[in-house]
Amino acid sequence: MISQSERQHQPLYIGPLQVRNRVFLAPMSGISDLPFRRLVYGLGAGLVVSEMIASEQLAKQRPDVILRSKKDDKSPLVIQLSGREAHWMAEGARMAQDVGADVIDINMGCPAKQVTRGLSGSALMRDEKKALELIDAVVGAVKVPVTLKMRMGWDDNHLNAPSLSQKAEAAGIQMITVHGRTRCQFFKGKANWPFIAQIKRVVSIPVIANGDITDIGQIGDVLDQSRADGIMIGRGACGVPWFPGQAADFLSDGSRNEAEPMQPEGADLYQLISRHYAEILSHYGIEIGRRTARKHLGWYLEKLGLGIDETKHWRRKICSEESPVKVKELLKEFFERRRELVA
Ligand SMILES: Cc1cc2nc3c(=O)[nH]c(=O)nc-3n(C[C@H](O)[C@H](O)[C@H](O)COP(=O)(O)O)c2cc1C
Repeated sequence: MISQSERQHQPLYIGPLQVRNRVFLAPMSGISDLPFRRLVYGLGAGLVVSEMIASEQLAKQRPDVILRSKKDDKSPLVIQLSGREAHWMAEGARMAQDVGADVIDINMGCPAKQVTRGLSGSALMRDEKKALELIDAVVGAVKVPVTLKMRMGWDDNHLNAPSLSQKAEAAGIQMITVHGRTRCQFFKGKANWPFIAQIKRVVSIPVIANGDITDIGQIGDVLDQSRADGIMIGRGACGVPWFPGQAADFLSDGSRNEAEPMQPEGADLYQLISRHYAEILSHYGIEIGRRTARKHLGWYLEKLGLGIDETKHWRRKICSEESPVKVKELLKEFFERRRELVA
């Protein structure tokens, strides 16, 4: 048997697709849009997954949904589909493939009530028959690899991720990502990384561990405990888009103990944030773009490690500003004040 650290140095495949490393950006509604995916991939992540897209809406080509499924020519496109009806899942998958998806991911992890009430997302874990019907529909509709993202199960009494994973593999799923919580936990408590090893034991496709990875120092533990083939980072990349790339560097170095990750500072950070802001505006247009950008700008400020009052002060100033020109000026002023920008 190969060791965990040996495995990290071998190429990882999703079906025929070789990914460049084993650290992925998680799908996050309202966050993992094209500008963010492009940024995170550009900073070194191995794969970046789209926000969840309702299959029926994609099939019907709703313009906002088409925007969410847009391809960046520099990175593989992974479109995550949600839905409850096999017909629409198949139609959505065909459309995803037509717009250039290299991988289609099926969402069986979303805990939100508006999604589970419609019996999709993590509610599908309670209805394995339905879950497999959807998997069959998607796998049968496309040539690209199909992957699955799930939680451990619905609640502590229904931890069926291992059995569902086995059935999913038999149905043609090519990779499984597991968020180490139950649906009923939502985001409470701690992600259970050792549980993921139970899935790893019963399937031979790649298994990706997800949940609460925010620090390079955790990566050794998450991989040792989960035995996973790779990791997926969600909230840990908000305001820190270089974190997945750093984690990938760390894994490729194999130096688990004394990683001193490179991270942009001063003028480089200012440039990165300004570029991200400009891309958001150009992707959505000014009206929606400036609203979408606020949360990212807020996270950047939060993660800079300023005092609470200073963070609040600048967040209020920058995030309540309507004019993009003023926002850019304020960002510049902020970095100049920190004496980190010389440009
Ligand atoms: C704001 C937000 C939106 C999310 N949207 C999705 C989604 O569209 N599809 C999905 O599978 N998971 C979604 N998730 C769950 C994440 O992909 C991930 O499984 C979860 O946040 C745990 O990982 P983390 O601790 O690294 O954030 C979302 C999470 C957050 C916080």
